[in-house]
Amino acid sequence: MILRVFAFIWGATLVTLLLFLSLIFFVDLTPPKDVWRKAELEILEQELALIYDREGPAGTRAFWQQIAPAHPSYGLEADSSCTHPSAIGVSGDGCLRLVDLGSADDTLALLRPVTLPLILGAVVSAMMAIFLSRWLTRPIREVSRGLKAIAEGHLETRMPASLRTSNREMQELGKDFDLAAERLQALSEGRNRLFHDISHEIRSPLARLRAAVGLIEINPARGSSLAGRMEGDIARLDQLVNEILTLARLERGERLGEFQRIDLLDLVENIIADANFEGRVRDVKVQYSGANTLELHGNLELLHRACENVIRNALAHSPQGGVVAVTGRLAGETIVLEIADHGVGVPEADLKNIFNPFVRVDEATPSVGIGLGLAIASSALHSHGGSITARNRQPHGLLIEIVIPTLIGNASSEL
Ligand SMILES: Nc1ncnc2c1ncn2[C@@H]1O[C@H](COP(=O)(O)OP(=O)(O)O)[C@@H](O)[C@H]1O
Ligand SMILES: [Mg+2]
Repeated sequence: MILRVFAFIWGATLVTLLLFLSLIFFVDLTPPKDVWRKAELEILEQELALIYDREGPAGTRAFWQQIAPAHPSYGLEADSSCTHPSAIGVSGDGCLRLVDLGSADDTLALLRPVTLPLILGAVVSAMMAIFLSRWLTRPIREVSRGLKAIAEGHLETRMPASLRTSNREMQELGKDFDLAAERLQALSEGRNRLFHDISHEIRSPLARLRAAVGLIEINPARGSSLAGRMEGDIARLDQLVNEILTLARLERGERLGEFQRIDLLDLVENIIADANFEGRVRDVKVQYSGANTLELHGNLELLHRACENVIRNALAHSPQGGVVAVTGRLAGETIVLEIADHGVGVPEADLKNIFNPFVRVDEATPSVGIGLGLAIASSALHSHGGSITARNRQPHGLLIEIVIPTLIGNASSEL
């Protein structure tokens, strides 16, 4: 690549230079020095002819001796034959003739107007071509080096700052590379974290099951008392596998079921009834206020999962005697559902993270799930073209806002 760019730039400069020189050559064929020498010769010949007429060959020679230092490129020679057209004198007395001795730098002087600029131009243009080709191909070399590093697993590779300060196209190229590398790094880290979290989650119930089996082997009579606990662990493993599968399929954008016209309020009221039943133990109430109907086009099971997880989270994080307020309203073509509690809320820095798989902010609070609930809710809502966000309430508590486009009249959209 670099060689081709070099050859192209150098070739182009060289052709321009040659064209320029050939133009000079044809417009003014004779170099000014030659014209001057020709005139000099003519004047000398005329002058010497006059002197010859007056003072003969000896006088002419004597005169030439005097002026010769001023005309170093000519010599006066005897021409006995007198046949040369520029011969001075008459054949009886012995002719003389001016001869061009030439000078050492004559050939060079003749060549100078053409050759020297050509050589200089070729060298300078070669240097410029080297510089330009290196400069032009540098970003490509840098990106190629970066890609190789990424392919070798160095996902932290970024473009050097010097590339960022060159022209706009190169800046864009550098930025695009960095963006792609950042995304790859985040994906790779996320995948590693997910593997780690999954194995961590599976390990505890498996270890308990193994311990229970060990105990039963030693004392089979304990089997019935341990069965309940073992069943709990098996159920937890089942839930984990189920939720991981759902999340994986949602994130792959896989079709999980048909969209149908549903009233979200029916679904929410059912969840609230169950939650109120569960909340009686700690005297926590869940109340709904707002629109009487929240019709939309969506997937019943996914929306149920999303709303149920958010409402159950609010219930679990509510203090004794607390109230969870659920409000629903129609805002243009979207439904906005808000779930607010009076719990401790979430540290500001984690408000976005809680929607990532296996993130549990407060490990001390008894968890209702395995940290996948909000991740599934978020993916489910995104597959409906909606969104879910969290913010803290004053003086304390968390507010989750769910926004879902109603998609009514758009019956063709299916998951
Ligand atoms: N209403 C809430 N109040 C305080 N923290 C919450 C609330 N809802 C969710 N969180 C935090 O977000 C984390 C993730 O929630 P989720 O994905 O549903 O997982 P899980 O409920 O299984 O812990 C929770 O572990 C908790 O730390
Ligand atoms: Mg949950």
